This record gives sequence, structure tokens and C-alpha cells, in this order.
Amino acid sequence: MQSFTFKCPTEIVFGKGAEEQVPEKLKAYGATKILIVYGGGSVVRSGLLGHIESALTAAGLVFTSIGGVKPNPRVGLVREGVRLVHEYELDFILAIGGGSVIDSAKGIAHGAANPGIDVWDFWCGRAKLTKSMPVGVVLTLAAAGSETSDSAVLTNEDTGKKQGLNTPLNRPVVAFLNPELTYSVPQHQLIAGSCDILMHTLERYFTSVKAANTFTDLVAEALMRNVIAQLRVAVKEPTNYDARSELMWCGSVSHCNFTELGRCKDFSCHRLGHELSGRFDVTHGDSLTTMWGWWAEYVYQDDVPRFAHYAEAVWDIHEGSEEEKAKAGIAATVAYFRELGMPTCFTELGIGVQDERVLGRLADSFSAGGTKKVGNFHPLDRATAVKIYRMANH
Ligand code: NZQ
Ligand code: ZN
Repeated sequence: MQSFTFKCPTEIVFGKGAEEQVPEKLKAYGATKILIVYGGGSVVRSGLLGHIESALTAAGLVFTSIGGVKPNPRVGLVREGVRLVHEYELDFILAIGGGSVIDSAKGIAHGAANPGIDVWDFWCGRAKLTKSMPVGVVLTLAAAGSETSDSAVLTNEDTGKKQGLNTPLNRPVVAFLNPELTYSVPQHQLIAGSCDILMHTLERYFTSVKAANTFTDLVAEALMRNVIAQLRVAVKEPTNYDARSELMWCGSVSHCNFTELGRCKDFSCHRLGHELSGRFDVTHGDSLTTMWGWWAEYVYQDDVPRFAHYAEAVWDIHEGSEEEKAKAGIAATVAYFRELGMPTCFTELGIGVQDERVLGRLADSFSAGGTKKVGNFHPLDRATAVKIYRMANH
């Protein structure tokens, strides 16, 4: 096991009615004037936004709201949020929504705490983030894991670049997780989000670290098996509280770094997917299932026993040689995506077949113009990225 430091300070309030504790907890974190951030309207239609606003008012807390966050959240709205925090002298950011809303809230917190620096500069590496503001989350969608993660992903609408930023300052101070709030998530978002949860552990399961790491492996395998099974239940029974609870909690654990302890993350599949979302505005989970099978097919020979172990531990594939089991595990994963109606190639993703120039531009952006390799299981350079995009390009 590799040495590690793990600090996930987010207070989790989990269960039915968790959001009722918002005013009391926010006060405990020093909130007096709050910016509420939300998305395209689901929390307005469900009544959740109004309910929380009333509760804040009753508790003597002041708030201003900004809605309209889109999936693949744009930095333009984040800048507008920063302006509101300064104008109304707000001291706490409350995200009510899924990963896009939470990541926008994180961006607003960073931008507002650092006047004079354009917030995108933190994402593109021109400025180093050293301070931020407190962020709280009322989660409405089990998916990105942003409610506990040290990551935030924004898209610059001027350039089409989708970029993640990892920093301990991205961890929210508190997250309210009520599985019932996810009942209204559209079926495709439920599935895409759950595939994202699966992928956050998969991207930590195949890495360059070969040292024995039994506990983390067992946690990762249990999480993946559970997500695979519970999603099948939630698809058939959208209001099954137990299945929704399992997915929600797995989402928070899958991306808080717990399933990489003693190892390290890879995340090259995410980076391949982010290029597709930045350019074509496709759903995050869709971009991942489009790329994972091709990535796995390209790299599995680097560590056949690891892929064979995955096949046994997650998919109960015990027959055949190591090579056969490794391949069968990849095939089982892709078959699961297909069973759920998830895309596994560019045409299924809805972007059609792309010409070589576009594949080259995707790979350019992926590899910072051919200057950087991505991931560590099989570090991907520009040429390799083109090859993997080509495999998905039908
Ligand atoms: O905008 P509204 O109207 O709220 O609708 C949203 C949106 O259309 C809807 N939705 C959410 N909760 C709902 C609901 N609809 C009905 N009922 C509810 N209870 O779902 C749609 C998608 O929302 P979004 O927030 O975009 O989804 P998700 O949570 O999957 O977040 C995806 C974003 O997070 C990033 C992704 O790249 C993508 O931009 N990620 C963030 C990470 C992080 N910060 O750690 C890690 C991930 O790997 C990921 O990259
Ligand atoms: Zn993800």
C-alpha cells in the first residue's frame, strides 16, 4: 500500500428530510447572507427551492439566488455569481442541485474570495488558488460526487474547453443527502449519473500502482457491484427508497478519494470524455460509457491479471484463461452499458462520425497540444488519444 493523506471534511446529513436541517447547520458554519445556486428549474418545479428559501427566512437568514446553471456548467454564470456575492456582501454559497450546480457554486466561492482574479484563471492554471468561501450542498442527483469531492469541472463557453480543478478547497463544508429528492430525476440522468459513480471507482481501480491493497480493492469491488445491482432496481422502481439511498451514498463515497487510498487515480477516460462534452455538449456519463470500452480494449494488455481480477470480483467471471477473463470483464461492462441504453460509440452518443481533423483537435486539447500525457495506468499521449477516439468513431 502506498502512503497517503486523506481528509474529507464534509459533514454529511443523510436521510429523509435531511434538508430540514439546512438553516441550523448553515448558521453553525457562520452563514448570515447566502447565495443560493440552482439549475434549469427542477428545484423550482419540485418546490424544494421555495421550501428552503422559506426555512432560511424563518431562521432569520438573508439570501440572494442565481438560477440557470446548465449541465456542463459555464464559467460565464460563475462570473455572474461572483458579482452577486460582492454586490450583496454574501458569506456562504448554497448549491441546490446536481454536479453542475455544485461545481458552479465552488467556482463562485473561489472567484468571490479572490477579487481581481478572473475565476477561469484558477481552472487553466494561470493563478493558484489559496483561499475560498464555504459551500454547502443540497443534493438532488446521485452522480458526480461533487458533494464530497475535491474537484470541480467548468466549461469555458468561449473556447469550448471543459476543465477540472482539484484542490482541497473544493470540499463543501456540509452536504444534505435526502434520497427522496432524487425520485424525480429523469431516467436517463439516473442511468448516466450511476454510470459516472461506477466510473469514479473504475478510474481508481486500474492504475500504475501494483502494490497489494486488499481493503481498498474490496471496498471498490463492493461499491461497483452495489451500483450495478441497485441501478437495475432504481430503473424499474424509481421510488424505491433503499435503491436510491444506496446509489446516493455510493456516489458520495466513490469520488471522495476513499476508493483510491493506497493507490492513485488515473482518470484518463474522464479526460477523453471531457473533450467530447466541451466540444459537443454531451452528458458527462454518456461521454464516459462512450469511451471506457475502447480505452479498456486499448490498455488491458498492460496488466491482464488486474483486468482478469476485475472480471472475477465484479462480474463473477471465473471461466477461462487470464486473457479470456480480462476480455470477458470488459465485454460485460460494455454489455451492461448497452442494457441500460447508454452510448458506446460516437453515433450512439449522437455526435455522428467525425473526420480525422476533429479527432486531431480533440486529442490536441486532451494533451495540451501534444505536450502532456494523461493518466498513469497507460499514460496517453496525443497519438494514443487519436487512436482511442478512432476506435469509438463509428
Ligand atoms: O438543471 P435542473 O433543472 O436542476 O435539471 C438537472 C439537469 O438537467 C437535472 N436534475 C438534477 N436533479 C434533479 C433533476 N431533474 C429532476 N429532478 C431532480 N431531483 O439533471 C440534469 C443534469 O444535472 P447535472 O448537475 O448536470 O448532473 P450531474 O450531477 O451528473 O453533474 C454533471 C456535471 O458534473 C461534472 C460533470 O463533468 C458535469 O459537468 N463532474 C463533476 C465532478 C466533481 N466536481 O467532482 C466529477 C465528475 O467526474 C464530473 O466530471
Ligand atoms: Zn465523472
